[in-house]
Amino acid sequence: MTSLNGKGVAAVLAPLKGSDFLSSSDLLPDQIRALFDLASQLKSGDRRIDLGNRILGLIFTKASTRTRVSFQVAMARLGGQTVDLNPQFTQLGRGEPIQDTARVLSRFCDVLAIRTFEQQELLDYSKWASIPVLNALTDLEHPCQALADFFTMKEEFGELTGKTIAYIGDGNNVAHSLMICGALLNVDVQIASPVGFEPLPSVVNQARSLSNNQSEIKVFSDPLQAVEGANAVYTDVWASMGQENEKAKREEAFKGFCVNEELFSAADPKAIALHCLPAHRGEEISSGVIESNSSRVFDQAENRLHLQQALLAAVLGGL
Ligand code: CP
Ligand code: NVA
Repeated sequence: MTSLNGKGVAAVLAPLKGSDFLSSSDLLPDQIRALFDLASQLKSGDRRIDLGNRILGLIFTKASTRTRVSFQVAMARLGGQTVDLNPQFTQLGRGEPIQDTARVLSRFCDVLAIRTFEQQELLDYSKWASIPVLNALTDLEHPCQALADFFTMKEEFGELTGKTIAYIGDGNNVAHSLMICGALLNVDVQIASPVGFEPLPSVVNQARSLSNNQSEIKVFSDPLQAVEGANAVYTDVWASMGQENEKAKREEAFKGFCVNEELFSAADPKAIALHCLPAHRGEEISSGVIESNSSRVFDQAENRLHLQQALLAAVLGGL
């Protein structure tokens, strides 16, 4: 169990009742640690939570396997249900404004999880909805993913403070949330991106400021420099959802950024390999690394369920 300065999990998470989770920066370090404790109890079966028949609305403008299914299963395990509000089948797809949609859905649902392109769209839902809004991935951030990622590291190493995660690839949503969440958890985050694909300077600065000088957020253009001595080596696709037409250009730009056996061997001997999935074997990661004994990608995927169940319980006030 994590030290929460003597406070219990329920007390630490109480302020999250009714809150949005739009960015990794929306949580305090102790709240992340409490979510880890709760997720661990939910995962082991030591804790069961029944929220009664609460409803999660899923508004997913992009494809999803892990996020969608883990939210659905988490809600079912909490005794609730999920309503699929895919814009393809709702009036959202015909241009009904968010300011109307968000208010109407707030009358039917208890919480919304939204996957879309612009972070601003999420902020608009947050403004108009009277129920919690959760970021299920935007172009800017993937904060639910980062919770599962650092939880997976914690399962492996026990203690996160002083550990280093290297992220090799596009400096976008996943990298942004890793930097912010890592900073909050005293984990050094070393990003390596090709020139022109670095993380946003504003997010790098935000993460550095949140780290409170307790961890380092570094950006390299050489993958080897980022990986050397790291405890976890993480990568993500080179062309994210919505960037499919840049695939050829990106394949060229990201040459040398594949997490293969050679690059991975520069990490700490006990390092683990992580990937948010879906993966393109032979591009950003080799089949050998993803299938190796060092790979934790399927534990990482499973942990999405436990962290989101903990998060839903917290924002719905079921603790
Ligand atoms: N990692 C992740 O978010 O996967 P999905 O796109 O399948 O939800
Ligand atoms: N960066 C990827 C993450 C997928 C989970 C994307 O946005 O498509």
